Amino acid sequence: MSHSPETSVGRVTIPTINRWKLDGRRLVMTTAYDAVTARIASPIVDILLVGDSVGNVCLGYDNTLPVSVAMMNHHLEAVARTRPAALLVADMPFLSFHLSREDTIRNAGGFLQRGADAVKLEGGARRLEMVRALVDCEIPVMGHLGLTPQSVNMMGGFKVQGQRADDAVRLLDDAHRLQDAGCFAIVLEGIPAELAARATETLTIPTIGIGAGSSCSGQVLVLHDLLGLTEGRRPKFVRTYADGFGLLQNALSQWVADVRGGTFPSTDESYRLPESAAGAVSGWKPSNPN
Ligand code: KIV
Repeated sequence: MSHSPETSVGRVTIPTINRWKLDGRRLVMTTAYDAVTARIASPIVDILLVGDSVGNVCLGYDNTLPVSVAMMNHHLEAVARTRPAALLVADMPFLSFHLSREDTIRNAGGFLQRGADAVKLEGGARRLEMVRALVDCEIPVMGHLGLTPQSVNMMGGFKVQGQRADDAVRLLDDAHRLQDAGCFAIVLEGIPAELAARATETLTIPTIGIGAGSSCSGQVLVLHDLLGLTEGRRPKFVRTYADGFGLLQNALSQWVADVRGGTFPSTDESYRLPESAAGAVSGWKPSNPN
């Protein structure tokens, strides 16, 4: 099959993201883990992230560390089948970009072969070699700095990062090194707003903030958080736009009450036997009654 220049018309691409950064348009990214969430979010946001947060949001894990490449492939394929118009980014899970350049390229390349437009990976200076290796293979990379959930054990919990002068300076340095290595954007998570603002004004690539204040080039929230579908205490940077959990439980409770009350299904919700078969059914008796 030849690739016509029209192939990507209407889709958000990396050049679109670069142009929007220059135009000062704020980027909006959210997560999608399956076809339903992709169909809900893709027409509305600019970037869809198949995040490794699928581990704690959908799969019941406490954190993202148990998420494997196979799990990511499964969820990415479901999202990609919807052919989203939004730029589709797949998260590199824990240990998928640490072992060797070859392993990293194979894992990330597999994501692109399944429909992702780019990959995202966590970490700064220690990950530069892998970022360069991917960019060398034409695999666009989004960086991720600050409160990087895969580092939960090193951080001693999910804690705001970059609050000490040396940590803040290291983060700025990491952000510039990721840019120099070829990243097309960087997620800044769980850092002081002033630090995110300084990174944003000194970088040429866009920053996408989550718990990083309002000065980033764009914002990302986990879809299930902003729709109120996640249980328990949410971080203070999450603004919840619906009580999704309550709304859905309420709808389900109504159906349960209708079933128990005998009002579901109605005649309109049932199939009818044609007249021609009605007599045969009503007159039928078991051939060997016990
Ligand atoms: O996995 C994820 O959902 C993420 C976002 C929170 C940026 O990495």
